[in-house]
Amino acid sequence: MIDRVIAEIDVNQLKTNIDTIKSLIAPRPLFVTVKANAYGHGIIKISKQYEKLGVDTLCVASFYEGLEIRDKGVKTNILILAPVPTCKDIIKEGIKKNISFTVCSYELSDFISEVAKDIGKEALVHVKVDTGMSRVGVMPSEAFEFINYTKNLPFVKCVGVFTHLAAADDINEENFTEGQIEIMKDLKEKIGDESIIFHVANSAGILYYPEAYFDAVRGGLVVYGYMDKSLREKYPIRPVLTFKSHIIHIKTIESGVTIGYNRTFVTDRKTRVATVSCGYGDGYPRALSNKGYVYVNGQRAKIIGRICMDIFMIDVTDIKAELFDDVTLYDWHYEETDIENIAGELGTISYELLTQISARVKRVYKE
Ligand SMILES: Cc1ncc(COP(=O)(O)O)c(C=O)c1O
Repeated sequence: MIDRVIAEIDVNQLKTNIDTIKSLIAPRPLFVTVKANAYGHGIIKISKQYEKLGVDTLCVASFYEGLEIRDKGVKTNILILAPVPTCKDIIKEGIKKNISFTVCSYELSDFISEVAKDIGKEALVHVKVDTGMSRVGVMPSEAFEFINYTKNLPFVKCVGVFTHLAAADDINEENFTEGQIEIMKDLKEKIGDESIIFHVANSAGILYYPEAYFDAVRGGLVVYGYMDKSLREKYPIRPVLTFKSHIIHIKTIESGVTIGYNRTFVTDRKTRVATVSCGYGDGYPRALSNKGYVYVNGQRAKIIGRICMDIFMIDVTDIKAELFDDVTLYDWHYEETDIENIAGELGTISYELLTQISARVKRVYKE
């Protein structure tokens, strides 16, 4: 163990995930989301891996995420998934660095065109259409006119048109999802311009709606290895991240002694307590206090007391555990450390737990 806490990423498994998805969608290009530090996996290293693995476009949430990966030498297409502010410096830099913008207002399209004209370089844009998320995007009734307006602006190249599926992971929302796909089919036909890439499918779209593949897909969570477990027999896609820490102290305390902040746990027997070098400051959820389990040497250990910022305690009375032994926090091989099970237990989603793995956690890439 090289640090207090590490997030270990299995690069070979990542390749398997990518290859599996690519063969599903072939011959279409694969876009992958690397926003929020590549779902916690480390944006630079992961973006470089994706580039090597033939990902067509890296999708980010902000201009600065895009700039960071471009400045670190990534040459692959980059798309900012949401509109940026009408800030001249940002747009100028984005155009110069071939970063594509998302547009869904006349104001932003016009502004981008003016800046592009100013510097004499074409800006790349994708038009976002709101087919049911009610988040960002032009309404379907205005989309045709808006796309034609944008693509005819000077110094603007309309590269793509896209939408986001709101509930493709929910079997009860099949009609709604099909409605979203239908809107995009009609729009694509009406636009009739083969040079414009239509992209609709997110992870759930890739897994459940081949009719949503259009000209490219935009995968996220599934690329990192998460999908309904029932699909594991069908596809060799698996989570690539394990989250690990180690024991930094062990002691035996008597019955009736309290553990941690606010004394929420009281020992009811002579207890061997191990202190783990990880806390909520690393992104490990405090809500697992007195509730969650970790694994030490393949054996389950219960979290006792409240999780602190940098440390928490576990009961190792009945298991083999020594000072500096590794502690497994997230690992899909065990029920209790499977991030999706933990997320379910805590009333959240794996996306949130992954993106909460904090900046100070060392990412280790295992080839
Ligand atoms: C616009 C857009 N496209 C694609 C994705 C990828 O979604 P998923 O990780 O569910 O595949 C996201 C994720 O939030 C998104 O916002």
